[in-house]
Amino acid sequence: EKGGYDYFMLKEIAEQPQAIADTLLGRLSERGEIVLDEVRLTDQDLRDVDKVFIVACGTSYHAGMVAKYAIEHWVRIPCEVELASEFRYRDPILDRSTLMIVISQSGETMDTLMALRHAKEQKARVLAICNTNGSTIPRESDAVLYTHGGPEIAVASTKAFVTQLVACYLIGLHLAQIRGVMYADEVAAVVSKLQATPDALRELLGGMEDVRALARDLRTASTILFIGRHVGFPVALEGALKLKELAYMHAEGFAAGELKHGPIALIDEGTPVVCVVPSPAGRGVLRDKVVSNIQEVRARGARTIVIAEEGDDAVRAYADHLIVVPRTPTLLAPLMTTVPLQILACEIAAARGHDVDQPRNLAKSVTVE
Ligand code: F6R
Repeated sequence: EKGGYDYFMLKEIAEQPQAIADTLLGRLSERGEIVLDEVRLTDQDLRDVDKVFIVACGTSYHAGMVAKYAIEHWVRIPCEVELASEFRYRDPILDRSTLMIVISQSGETMDTLMALRHAKEQKARVLAICNTNGSTIPRESDAVLYTHGGPEIAVASTKAFVTQLVACYLIGLHLAQIRGVMYADEVAAVVSKLQATPDALRELLGGMEDVRALARDLRTASTILFIGRHVGFPVALEGALKLKELAYMHAEGFAAGELKHGPIALIDEGTPVVCVVPSPAGRGVLRDKVVSNIQEVRARGARTIVIAEEGDDAVRAYADHLIVVPRTPTLLAPLMTTVPLQILACEIAAARGHDVDQPRNLAKSVTVE
């Protein structure tokens, strides 16, 4: 049942290229348009939207954070992301023209469900991104886009996360397309990059031996810090979350630019810092800023584990350990950069002797508030 893998989590990590392909399946026309006929919201409903809210918990919330960058960039309407457990206690401003996107692998997370009900009371239109057919969250939503990732057995979410990202990208591009903010050929260009990600991810997964060796090395660290900017920031948060929940180690993710406002004081001789470096193509400024943050932590003695794009040779000088990921447009990069962090957390946990699939104190679906 584990298909030759030691853990369900490793099996599910390996299934990610196929899971992405399955989420794309049937949702793209030959001309590279997004076809979301299954989403029961009319084009007019979607044209009327003047604000997007994304609400979720845990890893699904990190997918939502990435989606905000994509939606605002492509669709040019304001998009807020919030933890479901915080959302409904602060009197958020929603109305008929708000599109509320709730993201949940299980479709049963109570915090997310309560946020959804609150949004419906305020007359917002609710679109669920969900992996579990017929679960409560999609049933109570106005519309649903299923992720088609297949069942996720390991408690830690992996393939659900990447398929949630894909679903968010599809929704963003669909909105941009029907609202006329992006030309058809611009949408088609992003779509073709999305279609290339399963193969790129297969290639990446084939070269993860180094990460396994690194994990054995890091298993006794007292803390591991993660830094990123832009979409690399939620990736850093996700890397830290995986490590906490699986390896029971202290870990924290930071926006790289915030380090100097406090957290840099944590850095000591040998402190491992995982740095998610943006692509040098397109937005080189972003990449250069992260590189200077890496230099800052190195100057204080950090041991840097750098995740960077193929071809970014200049970054080698700042990396004690380099993990290379295939070239991907900036907004799609989390589909690549998250994966080594999943493997790192899984292997560190295993090296520390923990049950990777069933971490202590956690359940696969959290049906209490
Ligand atoms: C982390 C993890 C959790 C879930 C969170 C939301 O690996 O699995 O953080 O992402 O409990 O669950 P869903 O997506 O089912 O609503």
